[in-house]
Amino acid sequence: MNQRLSTVLVGLLSAFFLISALMYVSNFGFKAPEPVSHAKKEMPKPQQWSFDGPLGTFDKQSIQRGYKVYKEVCSACHSMKLVAFRNLKGAGFSDAEIKAIAADYTYPSVGEDGSNVDRKGLPSDHFKSPFETKEAAAAANGGAAPPDLSLMAKAREDGPNYIYSILTGYGKTPPSDLQVPSGKYFNPYYSGQVISMPQPLKENQVDFQDGTKATISQEAHDVVNFLQYTAEPEMELRKRMGLKVVVFLGIMTVFFYIAKLRIWARVH
Ligand code: HEC
Repeated sequence: MNQRLSTVLVGLLSAFFLISALMYVSNFGFKAPEPVSHAKKEMPKPQQWSFDGPLGTFDKQSIQRGYKVYKEVCSACHSMKLVAFRNLKGAGFSDAEIKAIAADYTYPSVGEDGSNVDRKGLPSDHFKSPFETKEAAAAANGGAAPPDLSLMAKAREDGPNYIYSILTGYGKTPPSDLQVPSGKYFNPYYSGQVISMPQPLKENQVDFQDGTKATISQEAHDVVNFLQYTAEPEMELRKRMGLKVVVFLGIMTVFFYIAKLRIWARVH
């Protein structure tokens, strides 16, 4: 192998590793595919999120407020089947708080004598779904079942901005050529611009314990932070690990380049 070829190979290899590591940190290339739909809708409104970018972190205060929004508003219709109460720990809830949250729910169980009984929820239980079956959920919501929200922030293109835009996108006048059937609502950010979800958020709908003013935009912002957390609780770990790998590979690139110069110094 001649010297030029080896330089090119080392260069390509380092570039490959660096790019892979950068993709890993930024989540680039792992986006959910956009469903093939030609229905009209507006692009989501871009917002600033603390979790954006390779150094992004979770805003735990906001996630805790967002949990309250989910619990008091969204959970009347939407399930979160993949999330257990103990997963709230990473959002800054204490063990005692998680125990108390879980104990608010009852789950079917079997008693010592074999009869059916209800037991109190445990931190290992998953969030309780509002409806027993998808059919019951659809029947209660004008034929459209509210989708599970556990992974919603990752399941849609530009998820966080999309959810925020839907939640704050009510109350506008529909264009004159759009027929909104009764029991459905105009929302420019939803596919087809007609949605079966009534406007879920109102001003001061939740009472934030930390004194934050509960505007619609604030409630939407907080619940999106919560949904981003449930969709990828290990995000901070992934980004930190990715950065370490980038730094490590950077140092190794310099190291190998110097080694290469040394090895080929004799060949002239
Ligand atoms: C009264 C019941 C109800 C409440 C409360 C409710 N939703 Fe919905 N939601 C629905 C229904 C029904 C749909 C399905 C809409 C459709 O198919 O047209 C939906 C759809 C959605 C979608 C769009 C999903 C997609 O497929 O792209 C998002 C996002 C969403 N809801 C988030 C929320 C959040 C966050 C809250 C709490 C702030 C909430 N919803 C409260 C009933 C509800």
